Amino acid sequence: MVKKSWTDDELLHYITTEDSAEAKELFAAARKTCEEHYGRDIYFRCLIEFTNYCKNDCFYCGIRCSNTQTERYRLSFEQILECCRTGNTLGFRTFVLQGGEDPWFTDELLCELVHKIHTEFPDNAITVSAGERSRTCYKALFDAGANRYLLRHESVDNDHYAALHPPAMLLSERKKCLKTLKEIGFQTGAGFMVGTPFQTPNCLLADLRFLQELQPHMVGIGPFIPAANTPFAHYPAGSVAVTLRMVSLTRLLLPRVLLPATTALGTLSDVGREQSLMAGANVIMPNLSPPGARERYSIYDNKFNYNDEVGDYVSDLLRRVTKAGFVPKMGARGDAKV
Ligand code: 5AD
Repeated sequence: MVKKSWTDDELLHYITTEDSAEAKELFAAARKTCEEHYGRDIYFRCLIEFTNYCKNDCFYCGIRCSNTQTERYRLSFEQILECCRTGNTLGFRTFVLQGGEDPWFTDELLCELVHKIHTEFPDNAITVSAGERSRTCYKALFDAGANRYLLRHESVDNDHYAALHPPAMLLSERKKCLKTLKEIGFQTGAGFMVGTPFQTPNCLLADLRFLQELQPHMVGIGPFIPAANTPFAHYPAGSVAVTLRMVSLTRLLLPRVLLPATTALGTLSDVGREQSLMAGANVIMPNLSPPGARERYSIYDNKFNYNDEVGDYVSDLLRRVTKAGFVPKMGARGDAKV
């Protein structure tokens, strides 16, 4: 199953198979491929959801601008730096600043924030995930000390992209941003949801082909989960099984990619994240946003939130990863091995 090239038919076969023995083989092949490059090491990222204001109106997303039921928040620089300090003390060497597309964070402010974090933690990687911005902004963020950028493409099929987003949002723009980010030198992350309304197996095939072409350093793949007060609130959630197969196929097509076991998988299934590691994922992004923010960053319903002290939550997670037979690499930046 580990091979140089895949035909469309072969990929479609594994995207859609209902044969559990076949899926098992796929997971094992993906895990083996991961281990050839990363061993059983799992990298950890300190996720900070710094704003849930968003100017976009994506049909699937709970923090879309027209959801008036969402209580909005924006963390102060000091609150964000406090999260970084907590994360750093716990052993995290990567911070991920994730937020809605919040115009309050102008290019200048976002760069100032990155610069402040970089100055205080010069050895830590900084990942930004703040949506579509100009080349000038991306370059300035890079120069301020950001190393990585996450921007899921969501769907690379034009009609499907248009079924998920308002007309003001363009797939061409999304692709352009991803290309720019790579050109600037960011370790770049793309990704998509599995099981969004109107998605077909051919959409997922196109997503895989797009990843092969783009060669991102990271790929985030999670199931769609309906969010209250959105146009897709009453659609069913995506399948955990299909999501896991997409994780494995991505690993087989891009052997050295960094693949997170996503929170969305952990939300739909108690063992979703462990299963995802078994299927070829090698990154976990625990949420270290302060209480209050964690609950309000409600991109979908029932999003997993811990109630313990953050240190207890992280050590529990490390125990779970170790118990599943993996080696948690706290203290490592976990850069992509390109
Ligand atoms: N279900 C699952 N994932 C979602 N995202 C946004 N809304 C949902 C949802 N309802 C994902 C998108 C986005 C990422 C931050 O979260 O893929 O890029």
